[in-house]
Amino acid sequence: MASVDKRDLNVPTAEASNESKKKQYREKRKDFRDGQKNVSFEENAIELPRKRFYRQRAHSNPFSDHDLAYPSRPDSMDWSQLYPQFYDQEKKAMTSHVEIADIGCGYGGLLISLAKEFSDKLILGMEIRVQVTQYVQDRIDVLRRQEEDNYQNIAVLRGNAMKFLPNFFHKGQLSKMFFCFPDPHFKQRKHKARIITSTLLSEYAYVLRVGGVIYTITDVEDLHNWMAQHLEEHPLFQRLDKEWEEQDKCVCIMTNSTEEGKKVSRNNGRKWIACFERLPNPDDCD
Ligand SMILES: C[S@@+](CC[C@H](N)C(=O)[O-])C[C@H]1O[C@@H](n2cnc3c(N)ncnc32)[C@H](O)[C@@H]1O
Repeated sequence: MASVDKRDLNVPTAEASNESKKKQYREKRKDFRDGQKNVSFEENAIELPRKRFYRQRAHSNPFSDHDLAYPSRPDSMDWSQLYPQFYDQEKKAMTSHVEIADIGCGYGGLLISLAKEFSDKLILGMEIRVQVTQYVQDRIDVLRRQEEDNYQNIAVLRGNAMKFLPNFFHKGQLSKMFFCFPDPHFKQRKHKARIITSTLLSEYAYVLRVGGVIYTITDVEDLHNWMAQHLEEHPLFQRLDKEWEEQDKCVCIMTNSTEEGKKVSRNNGRKWIACFERLPNPDDCD
């Protein structure tokens, strides 16, 4: 018997039905975003973005990000776009510079929790996934519209933190770098994609000031051991002890405020923390 093509009977094929679902999703997302743009502040009805309109694959390959643009040097970045309230129109210069970086910031929970705690410091989230970055951007825009005096000091940038960090930050510019629940890349052959490696640590040490701190937290014990070991072996980092962790407010904030961290808590999972201080370069010690 001759087979009948579903398309001849107007029965949607799986492919067509998927395409139509995707189209509906894109239209809903567009309507939601357009709606947000048109809400006036007086209406006081600005809604926070919904994650379901910013869906994206769980992982992005850090080695194939060829469409990303990087500044040739930190001063060629237009930081005023990200932090307009920290730009002096008369002097045509920023009044402050980024000091705290959340690497792989995901949906931005840490940025938002740090915003009020460090209201005088500029905080930057760096995130490789397009939709996730867009979500954080929209979230910050809404928060700024809801509370004009707050959240002006946080921003998000789409970028690959494994590449060209010194193009974004001057030597010793940062005082804190957070690595919260980084992608574990479980398989041995994928370990090179981990966000902490000996080579990358030298770049992080370059942009971090002496006395600055690298914060790491994960729910994957093997990854925790990997990060702690690489940091311990690096000559420019020294581990901070448990007592230090207990009194540091950022440790408490990063443990409880990121989206991944909250998920781990909901599942009663364990979290491993390791914090390291940036030591002076050996040449500077004489
Ligand atoms: C497991 S999520 C954790 C997100 C967030 N820190 C949290 O705790 O909720 C890891 C995030 O890092 C991002 N990421 C992975 N590699 C990156 C890279 N090289 N540069 C910037 N972001 C990266 C991923 O897209 C993802 O959003």
